[in-house]
Amino acid sequence: MQIINGKEVSANVKAGVKAQCEELKKQGITPGLAVIIVGEDPASQVYVRNKERACEECGFYSKKYTLPENTTQEELNNLIIKLNNDKSINGILCQLPLPKHLDDKEVISLINPIKDVDAFHSENVGKIMIGEYNFLPCTPAGIIELIKSTGVEISGKKAVIIGRSNIVGKPMAMLLLHENATVEITHSKTEKLAKEASSADILVVAIGKAKFVKSDMVKEGAVVIDVGMNRDENGKLCGDVDFEDVKDKCSFITPVPGGVGPMTISMLMKNTLTAAKIQNNIK
Ligand code: GUN
Repeated sequence: MQIINGKEVSANVKAGVKAQCEELKKQGITPGLAVIIVGEDPASQVYVRNKERACEECGFYSKKYTLPENTTQEELNNLIIKLNNDKSINGILCQLPLPKHLDDKEVISLINPIKDVDAFHSENVGKIMIGEYNFLPCTPAGIIELIKSTGVEISGKKAVIIGRSNIVGKPMAMLLLHENATVEITHSKTEKLAKEASSADILVVAIGKAKFVKSDMVKEGAVVIDVGMNRDENGKLCGDVDFEDVKDKCSFITPVPGGVGPMTISMLMKNTLTAAKIQNNIK
C-alpha cells in the first residue's frame, strides 16, 4: 500500500497558481477572494483560516467576512450583492454549513456564477453536467488530481462513491464519468453496501461517519479516497475510512489529515485564478 501525499500534490498545484498569479500581477491584476463565515462552527473556522493562508501563499488578495451567528438572511444576501459588484473581488465563497435559520440555496443562487469559485450555483452545476465549464467543484476536482497522481488509469475502471451530497458525492460521479470510469453512487439507504463498495477499483468515501469503511468493504488493490473529517473516540482527527483496517488491502489510500483537505484548497486557488482571468478577458 502507498499513501497518497495530498500535501505534496497540493503544493505543486499552488506553485503553478502562484507562477500564473505573478504573470497577472505584471498586467496590474491581483486575483481577489472573499470568504464569508457565519457563526462559530469550529471546523469551518479551521477551513477558512487555511483558505486565507493559501491565498497569501499564492499572492492573492483575500478578504474575510466574519458574521455573527444571528446574522439575518437579508444581511447575508446584501453582502453577496455588494461583493458581486466589487471589482477587487473575483471569487466569492460562503463557507457551509450555515446556521440553521439561513438558507444556503438562496445565498448560492445570488452569487454571480462567474464569481462562484465553489461551482455550487445551478448554472455552474449544469455546465459541469454537459462538460462545458469554467470551474470544477473543489473537492471532486482535487480528488481527480490525487487519483491521477498515483498513475492508476481511471478510464474503464469501476468507481464507487459512498455519499450523495451536492458538494462531493453527486459532482464526484460526474467528474469520474468525464474520465470514463463506470460510476456507481451509493448512500445510507443502499442495500448490501459492503458488496457494492467492494466491487470498486476506485472507492471515494464521503459519508461523514468516523471509520465507517472497514476492510470487508474494500476490493484487494483498490484506490481508496477518504473525504471524511471526523473525530474518533479519543478526539483525534480521522476519516470515514478505518485506515488501520484497510491499509493492507488497498493499493493507494489518502490519509486524514493530509489527503483530500489540502487539495480542496489548492483547487479553490485554481478557480480563483481562473475567475480573475475570465473577468479580465485573459485566456
Ligand atoms: N464546507 C465543506 N466543504 C466546503 C466547500 O468546498 N466550500 C464551501 N463553501 N463550504 C464547504
